[in-house]
Amino acid sequence: MTEPKFIRGFSKLSRFQKVQWLIEALNLDQSTADFLKCFELSDHELQSVIDDLSENQLSNFHLPFSVAPNFLVNGQFLAFPLVTEESSVVAALAKAAGFWAGRGGFHAKVIGTEKKGQLHFNWNGTPENLTRLFPQLKEQLLGEVASLTENMAKRGGGITLIELKHLPEVLPNYYQLDVAFETCDAMGANFINSCLEQFGRTLKSWARQNEAFHDEERHVEIIMAILSNYAPNSRVKVWVECPVSELETDRHQARIFADKFVQAVHIARRDVSRAVTHNKGIFNGIDALAIATGNDFRAIEAGAHAYASRKGVYSGLSYAELSGGQFCFSLEIPLAVGVVGGVTSIHPLAKVAMKILGEPSAKELMTYLAVAGLASNWSAVKALVTTGIQQGHMKMHLSNILSSFQLSGEQKQAARLYFQDREVSFSEVQKYLSEHA
Ligand code: MEV
Repeated sequence: MTEPKFIRGFSKLSRFQKVQWLIEALNLDQSTADFLKCFELSDHELQSVIDDLSENQLSNFHLPFSVAPNFLVNGQFLAFPLVTEESSVVAALAKAAGFWAGRGGFHAKVIGTEKKGQLHFNWNGTPENLTRLFPQLKEQLLGEVASLTENMAKRGGGITLIELKHLPEVLPNYYQLDVAFETCDAMGANFINSCLEQFGRTLKSWARQNEAFHDEERHVEIIMAILSNYAPNSRVKVWVECPVSELETDRHQARIFADKFVQAVHIARRDVSRAVTHNKGIFNGIDALAIATGNDFRAIEAGAHAYASRKGVYSGLSYAELSGGQFCFSLEIPLAVGVVGGVTSIHPLAKVAMKILGEPSAKELMTYLAVAGLASNWSAVKALVTTGIQQGHMKMHLSNILSSFQLSGEQKQAARLYFQDREVSFSEVQKYLSEHA
């Protein structure tokens, strides 16, 4: 394949020119242009909403928009809208939802909603001077950010704490303003970053003008101002529970299953290799719901993985126990999400997803995301300690392979029957189709 050459001003080209440049640079077939075009929406207004989400768009990249019904959360039935490229995730969630709906459903409790951000700066004065004058600085910081916090304050949010931290172990003259925020129904990234950047301007001019400092102390160097995606105090706990005997129809089997399930969850809490895959299973559900609702799943993952390492070792996020004949499976996880602003309020399908969920508050969405995580974790671990994961995966794998051939519904059904107890691979399916055509 030909390599593309360096190009200046690519973003200024029209979509047509961008596609043509790519076709020429990579020596692609001209039909690539039509193929890309056929994934565009015929409704120009809707297409322009999608276009505005990113730069250098050539087309749209489709993923299935699915739904998993029967989620009983704190006594209320919900259908979860899900977007994922992994074929077994929606089925796993739907199965878990149905199973637990008959056993009291999912229980959820929001533990906190505090978000954090930091102003990182250097200052070459004596630390005691800054600490002594910090109350005065704090007042000025809050005063000069008032126009930004006014609206948030009306909704019950704003800045809840500002701490000055001197961290010479990181860099010799390094300090932080470590700031806590309540952002109500917004994820709050823009609000937090705007406040922090204003803090930077205020701090610089305050130090320059403050008579209490010597000349050499007046120089503050702002390094950066940014929210933190680590939000351990924006946390939710979700759990399911039932008598062990209700886990399976056969009492003896139920006990064996419960023991193995608890052991599998325990292994993930202690073994890093297993913990990573275990948590990946949790994010299968969380990410699918986060994407459907237009939330930033990278931010969610980054924060939750850090939380999983809070004790110095990366660990599984869920917990399972058996106590007095009762089985309990839970997940406590930081989730900083919003339901107003951002892609949630812009993407046409994210808006539909929010409708499907009954226009939840940020707190409710936090609980639904955690429930999706616990549900996908439940299905994955259940499969692992019983049938093994390949049974379900292979079914989906076969469906994917079959859809790459032009087959009638009957032919697909016959192939599914044939591969019920046979090894599935592309070449085996191809061989079967050539023999049964
Ligand atoms: C696959 O997407 C997810 C699993 O590997 C999760 C797990 O192992 O717990 C099945």
